[in-house]
Amino acid sequence: MGEHRRFETRAVHSGERRGGQGENGGFSPISTPIYASTTFSHADIETTDRILGGEQQGYSYARYDNPTVVALEEALASLEDPEGNAGAFAFASGMSAMHAALTAAELGPGATVLAAEQLYGSTATLLLQIFGANGVEVRFVDAYDLGAIEKKVAELKPRAVVIETISNPLLRVADTAGVAEVTRAGGAALVVDNTFGTPCLQRPLELGADLVVHSATKYLSGHGDLTAGVVAAGPPYDGALEGIRKLVGGTLGTFEAWLAHRGLKTLPLRMGRQCENARLVSARLASHPKVAKVHHPALKDHPDAEVARRVLSDTGGLVSFELEAGGREAAFAFLNALELCVKAPSLGDIYTLAIHPATSSHRELSPTRRERLGVKENLIRLSCGIEHPEDVISDLEGALGRL
Ligand SMILES: Cc1ncc(COP(=O)(O)O)c(C=O)c1O
Repeated sequence: MGEHRRFETRAVHSGERRGGQGENGGFSPISTPIYASTTFSHADIETTDRILGGEQQGYSYARYDNPTVVALEEALASLEDPEGNAGAFAFASGMSAMHAALTAAELGPGATVLAAEQLYGSTATLLLQIFGANGVEVRFVDAYDLGAIEKKVAELKPRAVVIETISNPLLRVADTAGVAEVTRAGGAALVVDNTFGTPCLQRPLELGADLVVHSATKYLSGHGDLTAGVVAAGPPYDGALEGIRKLVGGTLGTFEAWLAHRGLKTLPLRMGRQCENARLVSARLASHPKVAKVHHPALKDHPDAEVARRVLSDTGGLVSFELEAGGREAAFAFLNALELCVKAPSLGDIYTLAIHPATSSHRELSPTRRERLGVKENLIRLSCGIEHPEDVISDLEGALGRL
Protein backbone atom coordinates (compact mmCIF):
# COMPACT_ATOMS: atom_id res chain seq x y z
CA MET A 1 0.00 0.00 0.00
CA GLY A 2 1.42 3.42 -0.98
CA GLU A 3 2.73 4.91 2.23
CA HIS A 4 1.64 8.38 1.07
CA ARG A 5 -1.99 7.34 1.58
CA ARG A 6 -3.70 8.52 4.72
CA PHE A 7 -4.02 6.48 7.93
CA GLU A 8 -7.70 5.57 7.40
CA THR A 9 -7.00 4.35 3.85
CA ARG A 10 -4.00 2.30 4.94
CA ALA A 11 -6.08 0.76 7.75
CA VAL A 12 -8.55 -0.53 5.17
CA HIS A 13 -6.25 -1.65 2.35
CA SER A 14 -2.77 -2.41 3.74
CA GLY A 15 -1.76 -6.03 3.60
CA GLU A 16 -4.56 -7.06 1.24
CA ARG A 17 -4.22 -8.42 -2.29
CA ARG A 18 -0.50 -9.02 -1.83
CA GLY A 19 -0.27 -11.67 -4.52
CA GLY A 20 -1.33 -9.23 -7.24
CA GLN A 21 -4.27 -9.56 -9.58
CA GLY A 22 -4.97 -12.68 -11.55
CA GLU A 23 -3.41 -15.24 -9.21
CA ASN A 24 -5.22 -18.50 -8.56
CA GLY A 25 -6.31 -18.98 -12.15
CA GLY A 26 -7.69 -15.53 -12.94
CA PHE A 27 -9.37 -14.46 -9.74
CA SER A 28 -8.06 -12.69 -6.71
CA PRO A 29 -9.78 -12.57 -3.30
CA ILE A 30 -10.34 -8.97 -2.18
CA SER A 31 -9.82 -10.07 1.42
CA THR A 32 -6.88 -12.32 2.37
CA PRO A 33 -8.25 -15.81 3.14
CA ILE A 34 -7.44 -17.94 6.17
CA TYR A 35 -4.54 -20.14 5.09
CA ALA A 36 -5.15 -23.10 7.39
CA SER A 37 -2.00 -24.94 6.43
CA THR A 38 0.95 -25.89 8.61
CA THR A 39 3.35 -26.28 5.70
CA PHE A 40 3.79 -24.90 2.19
CA SER A 41 4.98 -26.95 -0.74
CA HIS A 42 6.75 -25.69 -3.88
CA ALA A 43 7.05 -26.84 -7.47
CA ASP A 44 10.56 -28.17 -6.86
CA ILE A 45 12.72 -28.93 -3.84
CA GLU A 46 15.32 -26.36 -4.93
CA THR A 47 12.74 -23.61 -4.29
CA THR A 48 11.99 -25.07 -0.85
CA ASP A 49 15.74 -25.12 -0.19
CA ARG A 50 16.15 -21.45 -1.18
CA ILE A 51 13.16 -20.38 0.95
CA LEU A 52 14.37 -22.31 3.99
CA GLY A 53 17.84 -20.85 3.45
CA GLY A 54 16.47 -17.29 3.32
CA GLU A 55 17.71 -16.68 -0.26
CA GLN A 56 14.19 -16.41 -1.60
CA GLN A 57 11.02 -14.99 -0.08
CA GLY A 58 8.24 -17.48 0.42
CA TYR A 59 6.39 -19.62 2.89
CA SER A 60 7.60 -22.91 4.23
CA TYR A 61 6.34 -23.62 7.73
CA ALA A 62 3.56 -21.86 9.64
CA ARG A 63 5.56 -21.24 12.81
CA TYR A 64 7.88 -19.08 10.68
CA ASP A 65 5.20 -17.29 8.70
CA ASN A 66 1.87 -17.69 7.04
CA PRO A 67 0.22 -15.49 4.34
CA THR A 68 -2.75 -14.55 6.57
CA VAL A 69 -0.44 -13.51 9.41
CA VAL A 70 1.90 -11.63 7.05
CA ALA A 71 -1.08 -9.69 5.62
CA LEU A 72 -1.95 -8.51 9.14
CA GLU A 73 1.69 -7.68 9.88
CA GLU A 74 2.00 -5.60 6.73
CA ALA A 75 -1.09 -3.61 7.74
CA LEU A 76 0.21 -3.11 11.29
CA ALA A 77 3.62 -1.98 10.05
CA SER A 78 2.05 0.56 7.70
CA LEU A 79 0.02 2.01 10.60
CA GLU A 80 2.84 2.18 13.16
CA ASP A 81 5.49 3.35 10.68
CA PRO A 82 4.23 5.09 7.52
CA GLU A 83 7.90 5.62 6.50
CA GLY A 84 8.19 1.89 5.95
CA ASN A 85 11.40 1.36 7.94
CA ALA A 86 9.89 -0.89 10.59
CA GLY A 87 8.46 -4.36 10.43
CA ALA A 88 5.58 -5.65 12.56
CA PHE A 89 5.55 -9.10 14.14
CA ALA A 90 2.35 -10.73 15.34
CA PHE A 91 2.31 -12.91 18.46
CA ALA A 92 -0.20 -15.14 20.22
CA SER A 93 -0.79 -12.54 22.98
CA GLY A 94 0.32 -9.14 24.19
CA MET A 95 2.47 -10.80 26.86
CA SER A 96 4.18 -13.00 24.31
CA ALA A 97 4.88 -9.84 22.23
CA MET A 98 6.26 -8.02 25.29
CA HIS A 99 8.51 -10.97 26.14
CA ALA A 100 9.89 -10.97 22.59
CA ALA A 101 10.43 -7.19 22.60
CA LEU A 102 12.36 -7.32 25.89
CA THR A 103 14.45 -10.25 24.63
CA ALA A 104 15.16 -8.40 21.36
CA ALA A 105 16.32 -5.43 23.46
CA GLU A 106 19.01 -7.81 24.78
CA LEU A 107 17.85 -7.96 28.38
CA GLY A 108 20.22 -10.70 29.44
CA PRO A 109 22.32 -11.46 32.55
CA GLY A 110 24.01 -8.35 33.95
CA ALA A 111 21.72 -5.90 32.13
CA THR A 112 19.49 -3.40 33.90
CA VAL A 113 15.98 -2.46 32.82
CA LEU A 114 14.30 0.74 33.98
CA ALA A 115 10.53 0.34 33.94
CA ALA A 116 7.54 2.53 34.67
CA GLU A 117 6.22 2.04 38.19
CA GLN A 118 2.70 2.23 36.71
CA LEU A 119 3.24 -0.66 34.22
CA TYR A 120 0.55 -3.24 33.51
CA GLY A 121 0.92 -5.72 36.39
CA SER A 122 1.81 -8.77 34.28
CA THR A 123 4.55 -6.82 32.47
CA ALA A 124 6.09 -5.89 35.82
CA THR A 125 5.81 -9.53 36.96
CA LEU A 126 7.34 -10.74 33.67
CA LEU A 127 10.30 -8.44 34.26
CA LEU A 128 10.75 -9.47 37.88
CA GLN A 129 10.04 -13.20 37.65
CA ILE A 130 11.37 -14.19 34.22
CA PHE A 131 14.02 -11.59 33.36
CA GLY A 132 14.92 -11.01 37.04
CA ALA A 133 15.52 -14.75 37.54
CA ASN A 134 17.81 -14.65 34.51
CA GLY A 135 20.14 -12.06 36.07
CA VAL A 136 18.46 -8.84 34.87
CA GLU A 137 18.34 -6.01 37.41
CA VAL A 138 14.82 -4.57 37.37
CA ARG A 139 14.36 -0.99 38.60
CA PHE A 140 11.25 1.16 38.60
CA VAL A 141 10.69 4.88 38.12
CA ASP A 142 7.74 7.27 38.01
CA ALA A 143 7.27 7.36 34.23
CA TYR A 144 5.45 10.69 34.41
CA ASP A 145 8.42 12.52 35.91
CA LEU A 146 10.87 13.13 33.08
CA GLY A 147 13.52 14.52 35.44
CA ALA A 148 13.39 11.31 37.51
CA ILE A 149 13.82 9.17 34.37
CA GLU A 150 16.77 11.26 33.19
CA LYS A 151 18.45 10.89 36.58
CA LYS A 152 17.90 7.13 36.76
CA VAL A 153 19.08 6.58 33.18
CA ALA A 154 22.32 8.45 33.96
CA GLU A 155 22.78 6.58 37.24
CA LEU A 156 21.80 3.02 36.23
CA LYS A 157 22.84 2.98 32.55
CA PRO A 158 19.97 0.60 31.70
CA ARG A 159 19.94 -1.45 28.55
CA ALA A 160 16.24 -0.72 28.10
CA VAL A 161 13.56 1.64 29.38
CA VAL A 162 9.94 0.41 29.36
CA ILE A 163 6.93 2.74 29.46
CA GLU A 164 3.27 2.78 28.42
CA THR A 165 1.73 5.53 26.29
CA ILE A 166 -1.28 5.83 28.63
CA SER A 167 -1.29 4.17 32.02
CA ASN A 168 -3.83 1.90 33.66
CA PRO A 169 -6.05 2.80 35.46
CA LEU A 170 -5.37 6.49 36.13
CA LEU A 171 -4.69 7.28 32.46
CA ARG A 172 -1.44 9.16 32.99
CA VAL A 173 0.13 10.17 29.67
CA ALA A 174 3.85 9.64 29.11
CA ASP A 175 5.93 12.27 27.35
CA THR A 176 7.18 9.69 24.84
CA ALA A 177 9.29 12.20 22.88
CA GLY A 178 10.98 13.45 26.07
CA VAL A 179 11.58 9.92 27.39
CA ALA A 180 12.98 8.88 23.99
CA GLU A 181 15.46 11.75 24.09
CA VAL A 182 16.85 10.92 27.54
CA THR A 183 16.81 7.18 26.79
CA ARG A 184 18.74 7.65 23.57
CA ALA A 185 21.24 9.97 25.27
CA GLY A 186 21.85 7.18 27.81
CA GLY A 187 22.37 4.56 25.09
CA ALA A 188 19.31 2.50 26.08
CA ALA A 189 16.53 1.04 23.94
CA LEU A 190 13.05 2.47 24.50
CA VAL A 191 10.19 -0.04 24.59
CA VAL A 192 6.73 1.56 24.49
CA ASP A 193 3.52 -0.36 25.18
CA ASN A 194 1.05 1.52 22.97
CA THR A 195 -1.98 -0.68 23.77
CA PHE A 196 -4.05 2.18 25.25
CA GLY A 197 -2.90 4.71 22.64
CA THR A 198 -3.02 2.72 19.40
CA PRO A 199 -1.30 4.10 16.28
CA CYS A 200 -4.40 6.32 15.85
CA LEU A 201 -3.40 8.49 18.79
CA GLN A 202 0.37 8.09 18.78
CA ARG A 203 3.09 6.43 16.74
CA PRO A 204 5.94 6.05 19.23
CA LEU A 205 8.50 5.07 16.53
CA GLU A 206 8.06 8.58 15.04
CA LEU A 207 8.77 10.05 18.50
CA GLY A 208 12.03 8.11 18.92
CA ALA A 209 10.97 4.78 20.46
CA ASP A 210 12.83 1.64 19.37
CA LEU A 211 10.23 -1.08 19.94
CA VAL A 212 6.44 -0.65 20.11
CA VAL A 213 4.33 -3.34 21.74
CA HIS A 214 0.56 -3.89 21.68
CA SER A 215 -1.89 -6.20 23.22
CA ALA A 216 -3.84 -6.53 19.96
CA THR A 217 -6.48 -8.27 22.06
CA LYS A 218 -7.68 -4.72 22.80
CA TYR A 219 -8.27 -1.79 20.41
CA LEU A 220 -6.41 -3.13 17.36
CA SER A 221 -8.79 -6.05 16.92
CA GLY A 222 -11.52 -4.32 18.93
CA HIS A 223 -14.33 -6.86 19.16
CA GLY A 224 -13.47 -8.87 22.25
CA ASP A 225 -13.12 -12.10 20.30
CA LEU A 226 -9.42 -12.91 20.11
CA THR A 227 -6.07 -12.80 21.91
CA ALA A 228 -3.07 -11.38 20.04
CA GLY A 229 0.02 -9.21 20.38
CA VAL A 230 2.33 -7.25 18.13
CA VAL A 231 5.78 -5.69 18.17
CA ALA A 232 6.75 -3.05 15.61
CA ALA A 233 10.43 -2.19 15.25
CA GLY A 234 13.08 -1.32 12.69
CA PRO A 235 16.70 -2.53 12.46
CA PRO A 236 18.43 -4.05 14.36
CA TYR A 237 15.45 -5.24 16.41
CA ASP A 238 13.33 -6.54 13.50
CA GLY A 239 15.77 -9.33 12.65
CA ALA A 240 16.04 -10.32 16.32
CA LEU A 241 12.25 -10.41 16.69
CA GLU A 242 11.85 -12.66 13.68
CA GLY A 243 14.47 -15.04 15.05
CA ILE A 244 12.96 -15.09 18.56
CA ARG A 245 9.49 -15.83 17.25
CA LYS A 246 10.77 -18.61 15.04
CA LEU A 247 12.55 -20.25 17.96
CA VAL A 248 10.15 -19.62 20.83
CA GLY A 249 7.09 -20.13 18.66
CA GLY A 250 4.66 -17.60 20.12
CA THR A 251 3.30 -17.22 16.60
CA LEU A 252 -0.23 -15.88 16.09
CA GLY A 253 -2.76 -18.41 14.80
CA THR A 254 -4.16 -17.95 11.30
CA PHE A 255 -7.79 -17.56 12.34
CA GLU A 256 -6.89 -14.91 14.95
CA ALA A 257 -4.74 -13.08 12.39
CA TRP A 258 -7.64 -12.97 9.96
CA LEU A 259 -10.04 -11.66 12.63
CA ALA A 260 -7.51 -9.09 13.86
CA HIS A 261 -6.92 -7.82 10.32
CA ARG A 262 -10.68 -7.52 9.82
CA GLY A 263 -10.97 -5.53 13.06
CA LEU A 264 -8.04 -3.28 12.18
CA LYS A 265 -9.88 -1.88 9.16
CA THR A 266 -12.34 -0.03 11.41
CA LEU A 267 -9.76 1.06 14.02
CA PRO A 268 -9.89 4.79 13.07
CA LEU A 269 -13.71 4.79 13.06
CA ARG A 270 -13.98 2.92 16.35
CA MET A 271 -11.27 4.96 18.04
CA GLY A 272 -12.86 8.25 16.97
CA ARG A 273 -16.19 7.23 18.48
CA GLN A 274 -14.59 5.75 21.61
CA CYS A 275 -12.61 8.94 22.28
CA GLU A 276 -15.73 11.04 21.74
CA ASN A 277 -17.78 8.82 24.06
CA ALA A 278 -15.05 8.93 26.74
CA ARG A 279 -14.95 12.74 26.59
CA LEU A 280 -18.75 12.98 26.95
CA VAL A 281 -18.88 10.38 29.74
CA SER A 282 -16.03 12.01 31.68
CA ALA A 283 -17.64 15.48 31.45
CA ARG A 284 -20.99 14.16 32.71
CA LEU A 285 -19.46 12.10 35.51
CA ALA A 286 -17.33 15.08 36.62
CA SER A 287 -20.48 17.01 37.54
CA HIS A 288 -22.31 14.08 39.19
CA PRO A 289 -22.82 14.46 42.96
CA LYS A 290 -22.07 10.76 43.61
CA VAL A 291 -18.70 10.92 41.83
CA ALA A 292 -15.74 12.26 43.82
CA LYS A 293 -13.14 12.44 41.02
CA VAL A 294 -12.81 11.64 37.33
CA HIS A 295 -9.53 10.72 35.61
CA HIS A 296 -9.41 11.46 31.88
CA PRO A 297 -6.74 13.35 29.90
CA ALA A 298 -9.32 15.69 28.31
CA LEU A 299 -10.26 17.10 31.71
CA LYS A 300 -8.50 20.33 32.70
CA ASP A 301 -7.46 19.01 36.12
CA HIS A 302 -5.76 15.92 34.67
CA PRO A 303 -2.04 16.09 35.61
CA ASP A 304 -0.94 15.32 32.02
CA ALA A 305 -3.51 17.38 30.09
CA GLU A 306 -0.72 19.46 28.55
CA VAL A 307 1.48 16.44 27.70
CA ALA A 308 -1.56 14.74 26.13
CA ARG A 309 -2.10 17.71 23.82
CA ARG A 310 1.53 17.40 22.67
CA VAL A 311 1.92 13.66 22.21
CA LEU A 312 -1.58 12.31 21.48
CA SER A 313 -3.89 13.23 18.63
CA ASP A 314 -6.91 12.48 20.88
CA THR A 315 -7.45 11.66 24.53
CA GLY A 316 -8.33 7.96 24.38
CA GLY A 317 -11.32 5.77 25.08
CA LEU A 318 -10.84 5.13 28.81
CA VAL A 319 -12.23 6.94 31.83
CA SER A 320 -11.65 6.15 35.50
CA PHE A 321 -13.61 7.60 38.38
CA GLU A 322 -13.81 7.46 42.15
CA LEU A 323 -17.19 7.12 43.78
CA GLU A 324 -18.16 9.60 46.49
CA ALA A 325 -19.01 6.56 48.65
CA GLY A 326 -15.75 4.92 49.76
CA GLY A 327 -14.82 1.25 49.86
CA ARG A 328 -15.18 -1.90 47.84
CA GLU A 329 -18.81 -2.44 48.79
CA ALA A 330 -19.99 0.73 47.00
CA ALA A 331 -17.85 -0.09 43.94
CA PHE A 332 -19.33 -3.60 43.72
CA ALA A 333 -22.89 -2.27 44.25
CA PHE A 334 -22.35 0.23 41.41
CA LEU A 335 -20.98 -2.43 39.04
CA ASN A 336 -23.80 -4.84 39.86
CA ALA A 337 -26.37 -2.12 39.16
CA LEU A 338 -25.13 -1.59 35.56
CA GLU A 339 -27.52 -2.92 32.94
CA LEU A 340 -25.81 -2.00 29.65
CA CYS A 341 -22.09 -1.60 30.39
CA VAL A 342 -20.47 -5.03 30.54
CA LYS A 343 -18.55 -6.03 33.67
CA ALA A 344 -15.38 -7.51 32.15
CA PRO A 345 -11.64 -7.18 32.83
CA SER A 346 -10.54 -6.02 29.39
CA LEU A 347 -10.67 -2.86 27.29
CA GLY A 348 -10.75 -1.49 23.78
CA ASP A 349 -13.83 -3.39 22.63
CA ILE A 350 -16.88 -2.04 20.81
CA TYR A 351 -18.85 -2.71 24.01
CA THR A 352 -18.46 -0.37 26.97
CA LEU A 353 -16.66 -2.41 29.64
CA ALA A 354 -16.47 -1.64 33.35
CA ILE A 355 -14.05 -3.06 35.92
CA HIS A 356 -12.93 -2.65 39.51
CA PRO A 357 -9.13 -2.27 39.12
CA ALA A 358 -8.32 -3.06 42.78
CA THR A 359 -9.72 -6.60 42.38
CA SER A 360 -8.83 -7.18 38.73
CA SER A 361 -5.84 -5.55 36.94
CA HIS A 362 -4.18 -4.61 40.27
CA ARG A 363 -5.33 -7.60 42.32
CA GLU A 364 -1.82 -9.05 42.73
CA LEU A 365 -0.44 -5.89 44.35
CA SER A 366 -0.34 -5.35 48.09
CA PRO A 367 -2.95 -2.88 49.45
CA THR A 368 -0.11 -0.45 50.30
CA ARG A 369 1.29 -0.53 46.77
CA ARG A 370 -2.22 -0.10 45.31
CA GLU A 371 -2.78 2.90 47.57
CA ARG A 372 0.59 4.39 46.52
CA LEU A 373 -0.38 4.03 42.84
CA GLY A 374 -3.76 5.68 43.52
CA VAL A 375 -5.75 2.49 42.83
CA LYS A 376 -8.39 3.03 45.49
CA GLU A 377 -11.18 0.63 46.50
CA ASN A 378 -13.82 3.08 45.19
CA LEU A 379 -12.17 3.41 41.74
CA ILE A 380 -14.01 2.19 38.62
CA ARG A 381 -12.48 1.97 35.13
CA LEU A 382 -14.60 2.28 32.03
CA SER A 383 -13.49 1.39 28.54
CA CYS A 384 -15.92 3.27 26.32
CA GLY A 385 -17.38 1.38 23.39
CA ILE A 386 -19.14 2.62 20.29
CA GLU A 387 -22.72 2.67 21.60
CA HIS A 388 -24.80 5.85 21.59
CA PRO A 389 -23.17 7.91 24.39
CA GLU A 390 -26.51 8.88 25.95
CA ASP A 391 -27.40 5.20 26.49
CA VAL A 392 -24.08 4.63 28.26
CA ILE A 393 -24.47 7.79 30.36
CA SER A 394 -28.01 6.92 31.37
CA ASP A 395 -26.83 3.41 32.44
CA LEU A 396 -24.05 4.99 34.54
CA GLU A 397 -26.42 7.56 36.05
CA GLY A 398 -28.96 4.84 36.80
CA ALA A 399 -26.36 2.76 38.67
CA LEU A 400 -25.09 5.82 40.55
CA GLY A 401 -28.68 6.67 41.49
CA ARG A 402 -29.07 3.27 43.13
CA LEU A 403 -26.12 3.81 45.50
C1 LIG B 1 -1.23 -2.33 28.63
C2 LIG B 1 -1.27 -3.80 28.43
N1 LIG B 1 -0.19 -4.41 27.91
C3 LIG B 1 -0.17 -5.74 27.70
C4 LIG B 1 -1.25 -6.53 28.05
C5 LIG B 1 -1.18 -8.02 27.84
O1 LIG B 1 -1.94 -8.37 26.74
P1 LIG B 1 -2.57 -9.83 26.48
O2 LIG B 1 -3.64 -10.02 27.51
O3 LIG B 1 -3.06 -9.76 25.09
O4 LIG B 1 -1.46 -10.81 26.65
C6 LIG B 1 -2.39 -5.95 28.58
C7 LIG B 1 -3.56 -6.76 28.95
O5 LIG B 1 -4.51 -6.30 29.57
C8 LIG B 1 -2.40 -4.53 28.79
O6 LIG B 1 -3.47 -3.90 29.32
